[in-house]
Amino acid sequence: MRRALVAGNWKMNGSRADINDLMQGLLTGLSEGVNGVDVVVCPPFPYLTQVTEAAHGSELIVGSQNVCEQSSGAYTGEVAASMLRDFNVRYVIVGHSERRQLYGETDQLIASKVGAVSEAGMIPVLCVGETREQRDRGAAEETVLAQIASVVAAHGVSAFADSVIAYEPVWAIGTGLSATSEQAQHMHAVIRQYLARHDAAVADAVQIVYGGSVTADNAEELFACPDIDGGLVGGASLNAQAFIRICKSVS
Ligand code: 13P
Repeated sequence: MRRALVAGNWKMNGSRADINDLMQGLLTGLSEGVNGVDVVVCPPFPYLTQVTEAAHGSELIVGSQNVCEQSSGAYTGEVAASMLRDFNVRYVIVGHSERRQLYGETDQLIASKVGAVSEAGMIPVLCVGETREQRDRGAAEETVLAQIASVVAAHGVSAFADSVIAYEPVWAIGTGLSATSEQAQHMHAVIRQYLARHDAAVADAVQIVYGGSVTADNAEELFACPDIDGGLVGGASLNAQAFIRICKSVS
């Protein structure tokens, strides 16, 4: 039985004061009982200390939104995996579609980042997903599997023994138009079947979470699907009550 995971990707939002309020709301909600799910929040880098300190002693797990593929040195503006580990970060989002589309991250770079995160003892959350145009021309599965294959090519399928996959169709991100539970379940099953061709045990164990306009209203139906192991939540994770409701939607 795979454990569920719900992660909030705060993206580039918040201030010290906002995050203080959000953390208080989240910690109160969690203390009232959210069971059977690992709950992660991924703040912007400058707020990692604030969030790890506030989360200390609670069950809330801290993640980050990005990482550098290099371990140290002259990489101005970058943050190394070892630095994140130093701040008790456990999960690192890698290859978010916003990084792929706005910052030109390639499959090869993303595979290097997956390696850097794993080597530092953290868990990569590899984001994959097709654009609307790719879906419309029937290339959704091929796009997503190619994104996963590049990690398998770089590190072997065993990379997914300690990774999470987030299926985030680009057209569903921030649009209010979630994939239907049928569309999401289908792609999650396709991903799992692909991994199973390499290693059945890895395929069975890997957590595959869904992201793209997850809300307190649609989470329960999505999370009830057999191959959907939780969610990666953007907008709704900035509201403590909504996010806690989403976490509680894991049955
Ligand atoms: P939304 O939940 O705002 O659609 O964002 C999804 C996402 O990109 C999470 O990483």
